[in-house]
Amino acid sequence: MQTKGRSKKTVLSELRKIREQDLKYESGRILCSMCTIPHPSAKMAHQLFLCSNLGDPGLFPGSLQLEKEVIRKLADLLNGKKSVGFIVSGGTEANLLALLAARNMANVSNPEVILPESAHFSFNKVCDLLRLKEVQASLDSSYRVDPLSVERCINKNTVAVIGTAGTAELGAIDPINKLSEIALDHGISLHVDAAFGGFIIPFLKGIGRDETSFDFQLEGVKSITVDPHKMGMSTIPAGGILFRDSACLEYIKTETPYLTEEFQYTFVGTRTGASVAATWAVFESLGVEGFQNTVKHCIELTMLLSSRLESRGFQLVSRPTLNIVAFRSSNSKVLAERLWRHGWFVSYVPRLDCIRIVVMPHLRRRHIMAFLKDLSKIAESHNILASL
Ligand SMILES: Cc1ncc(COP(=O)(O)O)c(C=O)c1O
Repeated sequence: MQTKGRSKKTVLSELRKIREQDLKYESGRILCSMCTIPHPSAKMAHQLFLCSNLGDPGLFPGSLQLEKEVIRKLADLLNGKKSVGFIVSGGTEANLLALLAARNMANVSNPEVILPESAHFSFNKVCDLLRLKEVQASLDSSYRVDPLSVERCINKNTVAVIGTAGTAELGAIDPINKLSEIALDHGISLHVDAAFGGFIIPFLKGIGRDETSFDFQLEGVKSITVDPHKMGMSTIPAGGILFRDSACLEYIKTETPYLTEEFQYTFVGTRTGASVAATWAVFESLGVEGFQNTVKHCIELTMLLSSRLESRGFQLVSRPTLNIVAFRSSNSKVLAERLWRHGWFVSYVPRLDCIRIVVMPHLRRRHIMAFLKDLSKIAESHNILASL
């Protein structure tokens, strides 16, 4: 650090220069992110609540009120009549809190968790931290967890089963209704990771698409992760954890000897109120209609992209359920690398040997059409065939 501080103007101009290195969602070339441009109202609200710390909520009663309202609205969206929860740092922390509650509730000496093969890698971190043994359940031909495989994995040490409503790689939705029955039959917790799908699935019916039950309407669902900083168009960091009822909180509370609240329930201590305010602002600004329109936009572009890929001969890994398209070519890894070099930021998924595109709200039809045009040219110039 230099001895004397520099002027605001110099610092800002330096920051602007450095920011140029970052990719911009507005370019329409970020095709691999589950985050997007925050809604304008979210940016404004975030700025307004920049100093708020929900780790010490007695000092910030306004922010606390906003969090309660956000959680109430999320609970309504997910049919959780008695649900309670928090806005946390992201899906990883939300999944951590869910498994902490499940583990402590079950209180067995060698706890195990059943994870579908497609579960997000955050669960690997969580299981490591909480010393939970991972037991992997296999998938069916449409990349959804096979309930029979889940049942076979259950034993006296099982404390929880995970279902995903919108997998990170394919956007697949596990058969949560079946998992709920299994969880009830065996007296174990079912945690639904809807970090991505939680802001999409509830709006599908309103746009004339099939609805899938994945939320607290299903009796066995104990907790749900739902992230405002993904399809909720809030600012980062904003993950969401909802529990079925307040009884679950008993298992995750920590006494806070010198703060304005008696207990904390989140993993992080100092916790931003800014993205809570941002999430509140998005809910108020969009309403159900606004979210429906956003979901409609993303799903329509997804259908356009997937049908055009197929007509060019590329093979879809599965028919998109949500706004994620995964496809293969004769050499998907090399094609993904070449696309990056040409400024198209897709992801390559080694497990499935495919290219994955997340069709987020920042994408427009013109971006998809430009991508398709370049894709064909790039594939051709590197002798990569659309078909395997
Ligand atoms: C299904 C799912 N769960 C959990 C996470 C982890 O969320 P975060 O990166 O916000 O911690 C992600 C991230 O993409 C995800 O897609």
